[in-house]
Amino acid sequence: MTCSRPSRRPPQAPVHNRAMQTLTIRRPDDAHLHLREGAMLAAVLPASAAHFARAVVMPNLRPPVATVERALAYRREILAALPAGMSFDPRMALYLTEALVPSEVQRARDCPQVAGVKLYPARATTNSEAGVSDLGRADAVLAAMERCGLPLLVHGEVARPEVDAFDRERIFLEEVLVPLRARHPGLRIVLEHVTTREGIEFVRGDPGPTAASITAHHLLWNRNAMFVAPGGGAGLRPHHYCLPVLKREEHRRALLAAATSGNPRFFLGTDSAPHLRRDKESACGCAGCYTAPTALALYARAFEEAGALDRLGGFAAAHAAAFYGWDPNPGSLTLVRRAGNAPVAQDCDARVGDDVVAALGAGDSPWEVQSA
Ligand code: DOR
Ligand code: ZN
Repeated sequence: MTCSRPSRRPPQAPVHNRAMQTLTIRRPDDAHLHLREGAMLAAVLPASAAHFARAVVMPNLRPPVATVERALAYRREILAALPAGMSFDPRMALYLTEALVPSEVQRARDCPQVAGVKLYPARATTNSEAGVSDLGRADAVLAAMERCGLPLLVHGEVARPEVDAFDRERIFLEEVLVPLRARHPGLRIVLEHVTTREGIEFVRGDPGPTAASITAHHLLWNRNAMFVAPGGGAGLRPHHYCLPVLKREEHRRALLAAATSGNPRFFLGTDSAPHLRRDKESACGCAGCYTAPTALALYARAFEEAGALDRLGGFAAAHAAAFYGWDPNPGSLTLVRRAGNAPVAQDCDARVGDDVVAALGAGDSPWEVQSA
């Protein structure tokens, strides 16, 4: 795959042309994206803007993006970094800290550029130190969000060190999410980057307004991918390491079934999380997969393998917009299927200073986004 810009055709229903092996969908939204700041932002932003019309931008900066004023300033920084001629509409997430107050919730609700409030359990992931240790202390804020309809975006993992890394999402559901739903039956909740069968079952069966974003890497790979060398054999693969961590095959299959089911509760969120190569390939590597340039091709591969390419358009371009109450995007994007000749990963890497952010999955899909 190469990292190309989408064509600008009129919006239309997904069209899968088997003879030509193309698939045209409405221009999609990325419901979960990390863009960072400064040089990193400038390096990675074009890849997202090339494929996605909008994205929900994560607030885990240092210091965190915890007020509407700061979110709007960060949004301006993103737009200033956008190359001339590209369009992109960032929708901001506020970081839920114990300092957030109900009046700020109302301010966020009145601001269409703010999509929701992100819950990071303290110490669960990258830059989560400012997160919430006791959700009970945020109850007045959560009640205000429930009243005004502002979504809570949830990093669904407990962070207690004694909990097995592969069980953190399941235990979060039991200990935090189920009681939260009981306390706030009307709260709009997105279980971000869901990774388990139990998470899928919760979202599918919850009587409240619940949805989940699903990454391309959790759809395509199970946890073995972190421990297998490219040609087979043993190896430790830091670029496949993210949080929540890749899970067993049974969980991957549950995610794939949900994503391809047509259920509007499930939508595309890449969780593209750029880190410098030296920070990933390190004795203590950072969590996060940079997939902004590769994700759509990877999703197309996953949907094709599930025999559900006709459902990619809904998952990528309709379901998140419906949940967030956004207008459908104008324009379209066409994916083309190539036989063989996968381009090298270097095509999609983003250069930052004397290092790169290495894209995960370049060359792992027969699909690519057609250039404008
Ligand atoms: O793998 C991850 N990386 N998971 C997160 O929750 C945060 C993200 C990041 O910001 O790098
Ligand atoms: Zn994330």
